[in-house]
Amino acid sequence: MSRPLKAFFKQAHRNDISNHSANPAFSGIAEAYLSRRRFLQGVAIAGATASLPLLLTPRRAVADAVRTGLSSPAASLGFASIPVSTADSVTVPEGYIARPFYRWGDPVGLAGNQPAFRPDASNSTEEQAAQAGMHHDGMAWFSLPHHQDNADHGLLVLNHEYIDNGMLFRDGTANWSPDKARKGQNAMGVSVIEVQKQDGEWQVVRPSSYARRITVNTAMQLTGPARHQPLMQTAADPGGERVLGTMQNCANGYTPWGTYLTCEENWSDIFVKHAALTPLEKRYGISGHDTSYRWNEVDARFSVDSTPNEPNRFGWVVEIDPYDPASTPRKHTALGRFKHEGAAVTVTADQRIAIYMGDDQKFEYIYKFVSDNRYQPDDRQANMQLLTSGTLYVARFNDDGSGDWLPLVFGENGLDAGNGFENQGDLLIKTRLAADVVGATKMDRPEWIAVDPHHPGSLYCTLTNNSDRGKPGAAPVDAANPRANNQFGHIIHWDEAQADPAATRFRWDILALAGRTDNRDSAAQGSMQGAEFGSPDGLAFDHRGVLWVQTDVSSSTINQKAYQGMGNNQMLATVPGSNTFRRFLCGPRGCEITGIAFTPDNRTLFINIQHPGEPGDGITDPANPRAVSNWPDNHPDGRPRSATVVITRADGGIIGT
Ligand code: FEO
Ligand code: CA
Ligand code: CA
Ligand code: CA
Repeated sequence: MSRPLKAFFKQAHRNDISNHSANPAFSGIAEAYLSRRRFLQGVAIAGATASLPLLLTPRRAVADAVRTGLSSPAASLGFASIPVSTADSVTVPEGYIARPFYRWGDPVGLAGNQPAFRPDASNSTEEQAAQAGMHHDGMAWFSLPHHQDNADHGLLVLNHEYIDNGMLFRDGTANWSPDKARKGQNAMGVSVIEVQKQDGEWQVVRPSSYARRITVNTAMQLTGPARHQPLMQTAADPGGERVLGTMQNCANGYTPWGTYLTCEENWSDIFVKHAALTPLEKRYGISGHDTSYRWNEVDARFSVDSTPNEPNRFGWVVEIDPYDPASTPRKHTALGRFKHEGAAVTVTADQRIAIYMGDDQKFEYIYKFVSDNRYQPDDRQANMQLLTSGTLYVARFNDDGSGDWLPLVFGENGLDAGNGFENQGDLLIKTRLAADVVGATKMDRPEWIAVDPHHPGSLYCTLTNNSDRGKPGAAPVDAANPRANNQFGHIIHWDEAQADPAATRFRWDILALAGRTDNRDSAAQGSMQGAEFGSPDGLAFDHRGVLWVQTDVSSSTINQKAYQGMGNNQMLATVPGSNTFRRFLCGPRGCEITGIAFTPDNRTLFINIQHPGEPGDGITDPANPRAVSNWPDNHPDGRPRSATVVITRADGGIIGT
């Protein structure tokens, strides 16, 4: 990568602000307001349940996303917190085993097409389409056979969020060509792999009739109100109903009927427009800067000057049926268009589906979708239509600890032609603009959201960081985002009214203000004892009710500056309400930790190591791909590889106990 190109590398999700709306931010509250009572205390470990014995009920793979009644285990942590690490390895507590398992370039397992990874990155474009993509991210487990709780045999579905051309090619972006762009497109998207424990060791089953790679060129259907909209129509798809591919798939969700949700996050990084930008394009971070991807130079689909509506066909949540490799993935426009981080699924009191979603950019919002129709445990085909119609809401966090879900419905609250909306489908394409109009709360980069499996209506969201909070011209601090220059991030919690995810009101508090234990904000005292961390990102409950947190400190900051001495990115566990964290895992150099999938027996944990070896400026020098890391292979002519890691206990016990 040449230096000028590096300078233009777009990292809109990290550095830019697209939200210049005048939405209120409840200024002037700041730390004084954040007395101890603002912190979560005992919400999830109320005395009535804390004394119950461990109640680990194996459930169907997806059951932890749905209401599990009143069984509430007395979750506890039985491992000793490990020290921070700067080693180029994965470290876990004594008695645990962590093994890289499905690395970038490993064959996905297609019958008759299992190309081996070549460490010098010389695999062809076609071979890459049959191998694991790069930059593993969100991930979910689906038991085999379907509708059973099998913990030894299942499908893992995982995202390949983005690519690094300096790692993907021996010569980086030199000799640029349509074929090189296509290899990158084949290294993004989603993997479906079949995994099985054989003689006590987890293996990828190859070949597998379930194995699948979904790429930036896989045909998908559009559903919901934005299907057929003029803004969705292109020359290649004049009806606005069929899209090629998904990309920049960050975190994920999964449904009670056994489908995977993949979320399109930093898709605007791919598109380039040299002509003047429209307000809609600006609001979504499209720019005229050249990018490190360079697809727009050789594939007109990604040049907005050539294909103006193509960006509107990205920024959605995509539903994939992993049990049917011939199924067509569907982009559900009813869930809104933004930079989708993840999709946390639960069931409302009246059995509808609620999905919580963050928009990960500085000063963006938190959303909720509630389906029109009810979940029917015995009718999978009917459930397959649940995400095609419903109501989308955006969150307002009031400074008195209350909150409101504001509906984004055409014709209500100013969401009409006067503010530039033609109809509901048009509004959903412009979701961010609609959220601006109704007065949503600007947050410090919403990442993952987790639903407490034992307390329906109790939600947690990582707000990873926001160094611009409080700067002149940017939003000031507010009660829900209480820190100026929020470089360590925080984790917010809310309880829906009547514990019902369909509610339109909630109460919120803060689980933890992340940071340094030796230099903690006075307001954070007590919220984060045990192990320090910053930039929380991945967040999920296990089947016991333990909350797991993964960090994504940017490569330009790892173990430096404010993060000096905090080591490589890590994974921690907490029992909500305990105000105590234990460090469970540290990753290799230059990586982030992401993706969380437990087997139904809680005895195997799969996580993902993303972008090991990423240098501080984000782009690998193809002449020296091993400059930062050579994990996990340590091959002399190799390169670091994102990988799924399988974690078990040597004694076969339950993870975390
Ligand atoms: Fe892809 Fe917001 O992390
Ligand atoms: Ca993330
Ligand atoms: Ca992140
Ligand atoms: Ca990432």
